[in-house]
Amino acid sequence: MRISSLRLQLLAWVVLPLAALATVNLWTSQRNALATADLVTDRMLVGSARAIAEQVTMAEGVLDATVPPAAIEMFDTGDRDSVYYRVETAGGRLLTGCPDLPTASGDASIEAPYRDQLLRLATFSHAVIGAGPDSPIRVTVGVTLAGHDAMAKRLWLSAFAQQLALVAIAGVFVLLGLRRGLAPLIRLRDAVRSPNRSDLDPVEVRGAQSEIRPLIEALNAYMERVRAQMAAQRRFIANAAHQLRTPLALLSTQTSYALRETAADRRQEALVALQASSGRLARLAEQLLTLSRAEPGSRRPRADRIDLTEAARQVLETQAPTAITRNIDLGLEETGPVAVIGDGTMLREMIVNLVDNALRYTPAGGSVTVKLAVSDREGLLTVTDTGPGIPAEEREHVFERFYRVAGSSEEGSGLGLAIVREVVEHAGGSVALGDAAAGGLKVEVRLPLAAPDETPGGAVKSPAR
Ligand SMILES: Nc1ncnc2c1ncn2[C@@H]1O[C@H](COP(=O)(O)OP(=O)(O)OP(=O)(O)O)[C@@H](O)[C@H]1O
Ligand SMILES: [Mg+2]
Repeated sequence: MRISSLRLQLLAWVVLPLAALATVNLWTSQRNALATADLVTDRMLVGSARAIAEQVTMAEGVLDATVPPAAIEMFDTGDRDSVYYRVETAGGRLLTGCPDLPTASGDASIEAPYRDQLLRLATFSHAVIGAGPDSPIRVTVGVTLAGHDAMAKRLWLSAFAQQLALVAIAGVFVLLGLRRGLAPLIRLRDAVRSPNRSDLDPVEVRGAQSEIRPLIEALNAYMERVRAQMAAQRRFIANAAHQLRTPLALLSTQTSYALRETAADRRQEALVALQASSGRLARLAEQLLTLSRAEPGSRRPRADRIDLTEAARQVLETQAPTAITRNIDLGLEETGPVAVIGDGTMLREMIVNLVDNALRYTPAGGSVTVKLAVSDREGLLTVTDTGPGIPAEEREHVFERFYRVAGSSEEGSGLGLAIVREVVEHAGGSVALGDAAAGGLKVEVRLPLAAPDETPGGAVKSPAR
């Protein structure tokens, strides 16, 4: 699980460096323990040597060295250490003790092997009054290292236990801190997962930290967008069903009428009406399909180089018969290719809807002109007609889905301009309505131009038919 791995990660980041530090610290504390044991042992050695030296006296002209038992017993710490000593005159004459015991030079103590054991030795010089050239005498005391080592080990072990406890306590606190710190995240997860949440309500996590709050806000904003989209989708489906219901009911009425009719010419009339209704129904279905395709995310985004001029020419060719039937002069004004980036099929569909509108709402004898131009970094497609135009207060609404200007002379579903806006915005452009010079409507579509193609033979693609 991801949460637990975050926990492990943080734990590792805190405890591992701490453990490494503790290891280094252990090494230094071992050295410290040894140094302390050395110091204590040396003090004892010097103390012992001094105690022995102070007992050396001149008795009847002869140096008398009697070793006091306390000087030896002070090493009796239960570690079974052996103690060796030697007392000699300044000239090197042995007064008492082991003749072959090594001597430490100066004040520093030494470690030296003696009788297969390692000894720590200290030598102490002491002036004896009246001893003449024999003064000062020198007392060397050596002791095996069992007590010394035991002391170093004890000191070190206690340091070790402290370090271990420190790391363990840090680990526990990290875990506790994490549990507290991650609690809002876990509450967020539970809130999002909760089966009671059906309507994409904003989640509320109390006590969320400043690092987590932006995540929650982003999540809520995202859910708000999804909710708005879902609502729009629901409205669209309801509208579409409503729009389909009316012509379907009409179709059914017309069918029963045709079936009831016995006179051949009346039946013929009914069938023609039936055909017109089903044609309108088919167009509505087609517009719905186009709109759903034009919606962002509904198809794989395409970014072909499209020549808008060529696309317009193709559309005009297909619309020419309609223009002739309605006695409308349909013309194209262009000065060459206008390369834009987008989806060829959808851009063509956009032009189809604009030309279809212009032809449909312009009375017979009028004219419709499609003009293509390039202005700074924009391709400009203008469709002008000599029809009634759209009143200024209606201009924003006609882009809404299923919206039709009240009293429209022609049949329609109110989806054409919605498709146009969807396609144009998807291609990064804009669409605006205006008044044509000769009266009628002027629709201006601006699309960003494709960057000039450097590859040789990089011809602008004609939209597929
Ligand atoms: N060239 C035009 N001249 C006058 N009115 C127009 C023109 N184009 C559109 N309109 C008005 O804008 C409204 C919306 O147009 P739109 O193309 O969205 O829908 P429609 O033409 O009614 O239906 P559809 O195109 O889906 O069959 C139309 O009902 C019409 O009243
Ligand atoms: Mg239309």
